[in-house]
Amino acid sequence: VLKTFEKEPVTVLVTGAAGQIGYALVPMIARGAMLGGDQPVIIHMLDVASESLNAVKMELIDSAFPLLRGVVATTDVSEACQGVNIAIMAGGIPRREGMERKDVMSKNVSIYKSQASALQQHAAPDCKVLVVANPANTNALILREFAPAISEKNITCLTRLDHNRALAQISEKLDIHVSEVKNVIIWGNHSSTQYPDASHATVKIERGEKRVAELFADDDKWLQTEFITTVQQRGAEIIKVRKQSSALSAASAVCDHIRDWVLGTPKGTWVSMGVYSDGSYGIPPGLMYSFPVTCKNGEWSIVEGLKIDAFSREKMDASARELIEEKVLANSCLY
Ligand code: LMR
Repeated sequence: VLKTFEKEPVTVLVTGAAGQIGYALVPMIARGAMLGGDQPVIIHMLDVASESLNAVKMELIDSAFPLLRGVVATTDVSEACQGVNIAIMAGGIPRREGMERKDVMSKNVSIYKSQASALQQHAAPDCKVLVVANPANTNALILREFAPAISEKNITCLTRLDHNRALAQISEKLDIHVSEVKNVIIWGNHSSTQYPDASHATVKIERGEKRVAELFADDDKWLQTEFITTVQQRGAEIIKVRKQSSALSAASAVCDHIRDWVLGTPKGTWVSMGVYSDGSYGIPPGLMYSFPVTCKNGEWSIVEGLKIDAFSREKMDASARELIEEKVLANSCLY
C-alpha cells in the first residue's frame, strides 16, 4: 500500500479573528498562504464577539479547505492559547480617522498584558508570536514583559505591511513589477515616525541588479521626501478612504512575515520585522524596533554592517525616541 507522507498539523492562533483582519486572514492560513501548500493547519480563533466568531467558523467549515484539520472558536483566552505553535495577535481596538496609533494605547496594552500570561501558560514552549494590533511595537514589548517564559527571539511585531507598501511605491513609480524590487528597509516603529529606507534597495535588471538610488539619480529628492511620507501615512490614507483600517493587505503581510520567518527568506533578500533590539545600529536594547532581517531554520537575524548616513541616522533615532516615549506611556497605563 502506498502511504503518502503528511506533515503534523501546526496550530495557529488568531486573536481578533472576527474582526476585519481576522476575516481576511483565516482563509489565507487555511489555504496554505502562510505555511505552505503541504502544511496542514489547525486554527484557533479568539474574539469577544462570539456570534460573528461562530459565523467565521461556519464559513471556514463550508469552505472545505483540504489543509484545515480543525477549528476552535472561543471567547476564552486560555482555551484559545492551548498548544498553539504560532500566535497572530490581531485583537484590539483599531484606530479611526484622525488618531495616531498610540491613541489606542491604554485599551490595547491591558489586553496584551492579560493575553501574555495566557500564552505563557498554555502555548507550545517554542511558540512564535506576531503582534499586529496597534501600537504594535509597544504591545509586543508588553507581551514580552508579561510572558518571560517565551523566548524573546520568538516575539515580533508587524512592519512587513510597511515594507510591502515601500516595495509597491517604488514599483509604481518606476513602472516595474513589484517582485523585481527588493531590500527596502523599515526602521523603527510601525507609526508615522517609521523610516522607510530605500538606500540599499535594488531592482532586477536583465543580468543582475541595479540600485534603486541610481535609477532615481535625476529625481533623487523623491526617495527622501514623498516616498517616505507616502509609506508613513499609508495606513492613515487607507482609513480615510475605506473608513476602516487596512485589512486584506495587513492579513497578507502577516502571512508573508510568518512564511519567511518559518520557511526562510530567499537568498540575497532581507525583509523588515519588528524585533527586540540587541543594540544593533545603535538602537537602544529594551525596544521592539523594526530592522532588516534574514531568516533561516525558523530564526531571524538582523542584517548587520549596512552603511548608515546622517540622513538615515537622524530618522532612525527619531523613531527610537518615540518608542521610548511609548514605553513610558504604556507602563503608566498598566501600573
Ligand atoms: C496600517 O498601517 O494600516 C495599520 O496599522 C492600521 C492603522 O491604524 O494604520
